[in-house]
Amino acid sequence: MSFPAQVKIVEVGPRDGLQNEAKTISVKRRISLIRSLAASGLNNIEAGSFISPKWVPQMASTAEVLAGLDLDAGIHYPVLVPNLRGMQEALAAGAREVAVFAAASETFSQKNINCSISESLDRFAEVFDLATANNIRVRAYVSCVLGCPYEGEIDAQKVVTVAKQLNKLGCYEISLGDTIGTGTPLKTKALLATISREISIEKIAVHFHDTYGQALANIFAALQQGVSVIDSSVAGLGGCPYATGASGNVASEDVIYMLHGMGIHTGVDLNKLALTGRNICDQLGTPVRSKVNLALQ
Ligand code: HMG
Ligand code: MG
Repeated sequence: MSFPAQVKIVEVGPRDGLQNEAKTISVKRRISLIRSLAASGLNNIEAGSFISPKWVPQMASTAEVLAGLDLDAGIHYPVLVPNLRGMQEALAAGAREVAVFAAASETFSQKNINCSISESLDRFAEVFDLATANNIRVRAYVSCVLGCPYEGEIDAQKVVTVAKQLNKLGCYEISLGDTIGTGTPLKTKALLATISREISIEKIAVHFHDTYGQALANIFAALQQGVSVIDSSVAGLGGCPYATGASGNVASEDVIYMLHGMGIHTGVDLNKLALTGRNICDQLGTPVRSKVNLALQ
């Protein structure tokens, strides 16, 4: 059985994590969380979103968060943008990397960004144009790849269709989101086998929420399929505001412990990361949802 020698972790706690926590924390604390994650060795950290604060108030003032970070230190700080306005604001704030987010489910697309999948792709085309003109890398998400809170099962072909369109627009990576965490390992394998017939597996990232406790098993299955980019959230923070019942992302500490145990290099200091996880949970008044973190205490 072969696995990648090295895995890139995309830490999404400061965005996907904080966006769904009941308590909104200050810009100062968001900055200090991100700095502390970087100090633990993570070098891809999603820093926030340029979306409507009426929709997701926790992500307001992301420009101020970016202003508090050293954007020249060789760490990637992607930010979510849903449309041209978000892209313009991200650019003005100095972002070097953005992420667009589409869905494989029409209903989820409507609930999340108030437009159809096809309208969202038209909006993203404008984002890509501006990004390209400014040398900005674009990551892309596809949500609901293994199930939708409104439509249930999602046909893999729908995922492939959206992913291919995003690929054509020019993204450097496509993160497949199991938004509500209903996926299981063999379904994960089947989806990745289907998608890798159309898009190189090197461009695919996996993004599991752990609602049904399947995330680590799904990640193991994805590694077997050749995936080497994994999204995770410190202390298992978060969920999705437009996916009722979705629990946090798989905890970064759990993923990194598993990878290190498999001899796969991540460059992350697990003890430092665990401390960061405990600190942010203290500030949010929420329990740590990483088993590895609890075991290390
Ligand atoms: P809308 O209401 O359809 O848009 O929202 P609109 O163009 O009619 O604008 C409405 C208001 O928003 C206006 O302000 C606009 O100016 C403003 P008002 O006149 O009411 O004062 N507006 C903006 N403000 C700031 N930044 C912008 C922006 N654009 C318009 N970029 C919109 C459309 C996309 C803005 C809205 O639906 C929205 O912000 N949605 C938030 C979606 C979101 O952040 N969801 C969570 C992230 S996705 C996720 O978690 C899944 C993922 O983790 C993967 C997975 O797990 O599957 C990525
Ligand atoms: Mg997510």
